[in-house]
Amino acid sequence: MNFNAHIDRSATNAVAYELLSQMYQRKDLMPFWIADMDIATPEVITKALQKRLEHPIYGYTNWNNDQFYMPIRHWFSTRFNINVLKQDIAYSPSVLFTVTEVIRSVTNEGDGVIVNVPSYNNFLNLIQGNKRMIVGCDLFDDEDQYSMDFVQFEYLCQMPHNKVFLFCNPHNPTGKVFREEEILKIIEICKKHDVYIISDEIHMDFVRRGVHHSLIKYMSDYDKIIVTTCLGKTFNISGIPHAYYVTKDHYMKTLLQTKISGVYGIGAPNMLGLTAIRAAYMQCGEWVDALNAHIETNMQLTETFIKERLNDVLSFRKPDGTFLAWINFEKSGFSEVEVQDALQNEGRIATGIGNTYEMAASTHFRLNVACSKEKLMQGLQAIEKAFNHLKSEQN
Ligand SMILES: Cc1ncc(COP(=O)(O)O)c(C=O)c1O
Repeated sequence: MNFNAHIDRSATNAVAYELLSQMYQRKDLMPFWIADMDIATPEVITKALQKRLEHPIYGYTNWNNDQFYMPIRHWFSTRFNINVLKQDIAYSPSVLFTVTEVIRSVTNEGDGVIVNVPSYNNFLNLIQGNKRMIVGCDLFDDEDQYSMDFVQFEYLCQMPHNKVFLFCNPHNPTGKVFREEEILKIIEICKKHDVYIISDEIHMDFVRRGVHHSLIKYMSDYDKIIVTTCLGKTFNISGIPHAYYVTKDHYMKTLLQTKISGVYGIGAPNMLGLTAIRAAYMQCGEWVDALNAHIETNMQLTETFIKERLNDVLSFRKPDGTFLAWINFEKSGFSEVEVQDALQNEGRIATGIGNTYEMAASTHFRLNVACSKEKLMQGLQAIEKAFNHLKSEQN
């Protein structure tokens, strides 16, 4: 388990590198933007995949069997102490596919989808792309944690055209891990106003303080809940598309399965996805614990670096979950355009651009710390260089 190894990703078609010129002003940037890791997939998974590839037939693959259900049930029972029923689980091609299709099923064009803001940027793109309305519910920074405004949330939920809450827990980009009392309040309000809950728990394995309270635990009280997740983030296998969801809404489950095979014709899963799920969920618990310890070290390094060297311009406290650092430059007084310009052209670093998560000019950027300590240090020095440049221009 060497999380500090340098791994050359050139010639692997990595989006983190190859889409730089599409997303930023230049392509000679160190990538700290997209949420995949510069960390090798556990060897157990690699070996399982190699073994599967040795069998020379890569034909249509079936997921509807215990080879698929059993590892998922094992993971939830050993990691989260939750007994997931087989009949509530189903395969889906991706987390965002599930998110999109549930939104399309429970809303009409023009209806509102409630999301916490800041929000994972692709949620916003998908809501708009499907001609639904983005209804933002603020997550505000309370100094020691991010909090949701439940008065605003209930106000939004009681509006008849807001039919769905797209929940993200642990939250991208802030790293907030929702507490149980907050989750119970969300469910209570949604139930009261008949709002469907899509709970995206893709970052569920990256919780370092507190507990991940999956909405699976509360489904028997309210059945308009679907939990969607996958192993892409946890084991760095987003290049092997796969996902699954859990719901007690069996009407929705049938609808989604009918759409996947009967409307889109993509019912047969990637065989490597199934192999990876088995190896990961049956054998890689300790690896995930070690990975989280590494991420915690990197988060601490980031917090300390900022406190010691950039305290006049940046604020940051390490989050309880995810591998994403949501860094605030408000006190620098510089605009987002100035900061992004300096990060890219002076620091030569690509970070997540705040306004894509906030729908307005932002005072944040997002830094992915799931990399070696050495790469992270280079990234932090690049940020320092960018702000030193901005400060020198000011004088
Ligand atoms: C909250 C969240 N949901 C979904 C995704 C993407 O999931 P998938 O690739 O399975 O569609 C990401 C990737 O960054 C994410 O952060």
